[in-house]
Amino acid sequence: MGEGSGFGKVILFGEHFVVYGIPGIVSAVDSTADAEVIKNDKIIKVHDDRKGSKGYAEKKKFQQLESIKRMLKKMNLSLENQGLNIWLGGSLPGFSGLGASAASSVAIARAIAQEFHLSFSNQEINDIAYEAEKAYAGNPSGIDNTAATFGGLLWFQKNLKGGPNKIESLSIEKPVEIIIGSTGIVANTKEMVKGVAKRKTRYPEKYDSIFNQAQILAQEARIAIKNFDLLEVGSLMDMNHSLLKEIEVSCKELDYLVDLAKKNGAFGAKLTGGGGGGCMTALTPGKELQEKVAKKIEKQGFQVLRTKIGVKGI
Ligand code: PMV
Repeated sequence: MGEGSGFGKVILFGEHFVVYGIPGIVSAVDSTADAEVIKNDKIIKVHDDRKGSKGYAEKKKFQQLESIKRMLKKMNLSLENQGLNIWLGGSLPGFSGLGASAASSVAIARAIAQEFHLSFSNQEINDIAYEAEKAYAGNPSGIDNTAATFGGLLWFQKNLKGGPNKIESLSIEKPVEIIIGSTGIVANTKEMVKGVAKRKTRYPEKYDSIFNQAQILAQEARIAIKNFDLLEVGSLMDMNHSLLKEIEVSCKELDYLVDLAKKNGAFGAKLTGGGGGGCMTALTPGKELQEKVAKKIEKQGFQVLRTKIGVKGI
């Protein structure tokens, strides 16, 4: 049997903008997707035991199978007359927006490699998971699989010319509590990314100006994180949410949860990931504030993950 894990992630700055080469900041959360793989003699069978949004595993089944086929191709593994039994679990819930697909791809890639006694570097696992991500996201930036592979707190900038992406590890004074609230809506990242591309072509001037602001914001956030100025980080998260609203990737449920978190003392709050449902995140330093905000959101019937950013990667 082969085993492997991949980190869940939360995008703190720059989702959607990163697709176009604007830098983003992503942090792994201290929850993982875990996979076990055993060769079998017939088909590829996935048993998805992850907890999370109702229907998540069902809705993603088709994309999941395609992603596994893409991975096998990238690994140069042809499974003639052979199949795989894949079990998926771990502490990372299957909420949209937590990078659950990338985390599971990294976990499965590592588990397949172990089962077939193949040795891949982490960068190679990252490249394999990127291929897999295309099944879920169409034209992914690579931010999700990078965070899922390496963990930690990362500065990410896609290389639009096809060369290696810029990936830098950011240090932070100490891990900081956040909450991740799920709208319970299974979002389709691929469609959300397509929607932005369409509107960006239709309204170039408006979108250029928003994208410039996103670039400045990421750079300011990097400095604020370095200075451990959490109030500033929070306020930049709020601004990032406004930009995401302007490019029409938020929705009323996300805006509601963002407002609720802010009203209850969160330093900053924004949607995270593809939007259109999925998750939001709020910066809630200290256990007390984290619990207060989490409880308020749960009281309204939404699921919450209490976690931290800035936890060490591999
Ligand atoms: O929805 P998620 O967690 O897969 O995040 C997607 C992030 C996007 O920036 C919207 C797409 C991408 O490929 O970077």
